[in-house]
Amino acid sequence: MKLFIDTADIAEIERIAGWGVLAGVTTNPSLLAAVEGDEDTIYRRICELVDGPISAEVTEPDVKDMVSEGRRLSAIHPNIVVKLPTCAEGLTATSELAKDGIPVNMTLCFTGSQALLAAAAGARYVSPFVGRYDDIGNDGVEALRDVVESLFATEYDVQVITASVRSPVHVQEAAKMGADIATIPPKVFDQMLGHPLTDKGLEKFNADAAARAAKTKKTPAKSRKKG
Ligand code: E4P
Repeated sequence: MKLFIDTADIAEIERIAGWGVLAGVTTNPSLLAAVEGDEDTIYRRICELVDGPISAEVTEPDVKDMVSEGRRLSAIHPNIVVKLPTCAEGLTATSELAKDGIPVNMTLCFTGSQALLAAAAGARYVSPFVGRYDDIGNDGVEALRDVVESLFATEYDVQVITASVRSPVHVQEAAKMGADIATIPPKVFDQMLGHPLTDKGLEKFNADAAARAAKTKKTPAKSRKKG
């Protein structure tokens, strides 16, 4: 399963890209509202930082305007994927853009049947929202499974992006069931990496390396940082 980052925060994208784990980026209007700067400049900078699909969301409500905004976003960089909502207008706009070979990520997807419609319209990616399904008292992981299994035996060339990820457990469950991608907030990347036993073990190794160096009067290697 590929790992994308779910943010428009350039510093965070740069930080996690530095780990060498990122295969793409997703943004949305709320994530963009949380950062300063011109949107197109942000998209261009993200495309410089990560060589993979970069989702940029359309905000126009009508089909004609969705299509022209999608074309405009797509022209920013060859890696831009146009993000459209899973609704009637979004499906029509997706099929129009797909005819031009423009990749679309259909977002705000919650069920297998919505995912099938997105795939049939020509979406290259479909994004089931796990956390928001949990938020209303349902089982987001099961909703994701519904999407993955609904698309599994179809002929569509579509990839499932596990979205609205709230914890490392969501990422692991997505990987175990065979979802193609998880798009992960920076905070969850940190939670995936950190473990108290890793920190404790590293402290002990560093202390033992320093003690040995002192005994042998060698300059100790610089202490390694905690994970
Ligand atoms: C990604 O494509 C989605 O926009 C994002 O994961 C939504 O996450 P949220 O439910 O935490 O806002």
